[in-house]
Amino acid sequence: MARKNHRFTLAARPVGLPKPTDFAYEEEELREPGPGELVVKVQYISLDPAMRGWMNDVKSYIPPIKIGEVMRAGAIGSVVASNHPGFAVGDHVSGAFGVQEFAVLQGDGLIKVDPKQAPLPVMLSALGMPGLTAYFGLLEVGKPVAGNTVVVSGAAGAVGSVVGQIAKIHGCRVVGIAGGADKCRYLTELGFDAAIDYKAGDYKAELRAHCPKGIDVFFDNVGGDILDAALTQLARHARIVICGAISQYNNTTAVKGPSNYLSLLVNRASMTGMVVFDYAARYADAVREMAGWMAAGKLKSREDIVRGLEQFPSALLKLFSGENHGKLVVEVV
Ligand SMILES: NC(=O)c1ccc[n+]([C@@H]2O[C@H](COP(=O)([O-])OP(=O)(O)OC[C@H]3O[C@@H](n4cnc5c(N)ncnc54)[C@H](OP(=O)(O)O)[C@@H]3O)[C@@H](O)[C@H]2O)c1
Repeated sequence: MARKNHRFTLAARPVGLPKPTDFAYEEEELREPGPGELVVKVQYISLDPAMRGWMNDVKSYIPPIKIGEVMRAGAIGSVVASNHPGFAVGDHVSGAFGVQEFAVLQGDGLIKVDPKQAPLPVMLSALGMPGLTAYFGLLEVGKPVAGNTVVVSGAAGAVGSVVGQIAKIHGCRVVGIAGGADKCRYLTELGFDAAIDYKAGDYKAELRAHCPKGIDVFFDNVGGDILDAALTQLARHARIVICGAISQYNNTTAVKGPSNYLSLLVNRASMTGMVVFDYAARYADAVREMAGWMAAGKLKSREDIVRGLEQFPSALLKLFSGENHGKLVVEVV
């Protein structure tokens, strides 16, 4: 085959926001696939806030990326060579291919995707891991009931925008919290009942005004002060879903925990963490249901596509500045 692969490896553990020098851009000779292996030409790479956590040398739900290893990332690509009986050249597959042009690997954990079902970037967005996080986090942990007030932070993002739309499908009143007028406008276009711009005005007062009966489900993507503000507005028996805490991921000091947690006691409320990987056995059913909502016009997906593998280090920062509008994806051209 005699092909070159280009890839980003982790060169140093970031302190605070990742710097370009925390990554190394490398060229290597692509090795031939061994018995049972296949080669995937990576087409779209998912950039996720979780990547920041994987760069830290701390115990988490998966091991940290080692220095010198390819940056871990979910991606979609097509099979260009295969010694695996389950995958043929031309198949489209998603898996943890990393930030690189080609992946040579065993077939374990790979999922075949049908490009006729939706454009490939959508399979990394509403019909991929972020959509599945929204689906299982909201429905299994948040347990919304028609008429409930559901509040979601990071609402205009890949996970948050799907949470709000699924809550609407289930007959809830939905309030989204996002940064900036454009993102808030987008939320109302998606059918959210209210959108709060946390970067302008008094978001705590707005939360009070938009949730007169309190918050039944708070789906939290950002943590920090916004989580604390939501805690002060809980309804009796509220459920808080701890999906993420992006406001804390680049801290160089201790994570800011919620000081208003006694509201859980007063309101007989619960706060529960969730990790999407726990629901892997049910992904296919969930994608089928969400694809149905999409076909019926009830679920929309938005992607922010950055062209060029070499853009990876700067593109990743868009997640932390809020510059991404929708699911952030790198297109490998
Ligand atoms: N538990 C799981 O299994 C799981 C799986 C996937 C994702 N997640 C989590 O879900 C969350 C959302 O991920 P995503 O992929 O959908 O990303 P995303 O929302 O598409 O992008 C990140 C967004 O976070 C917001 N943000 C960044 N810094 C912030 C800050 N300091 N305060 C408040 N908001 C800030 C920005 O939006 P604004 O412009 O609105 O500020 C930014 O656009 C993350 O916390 C991620 O770790 C968890």
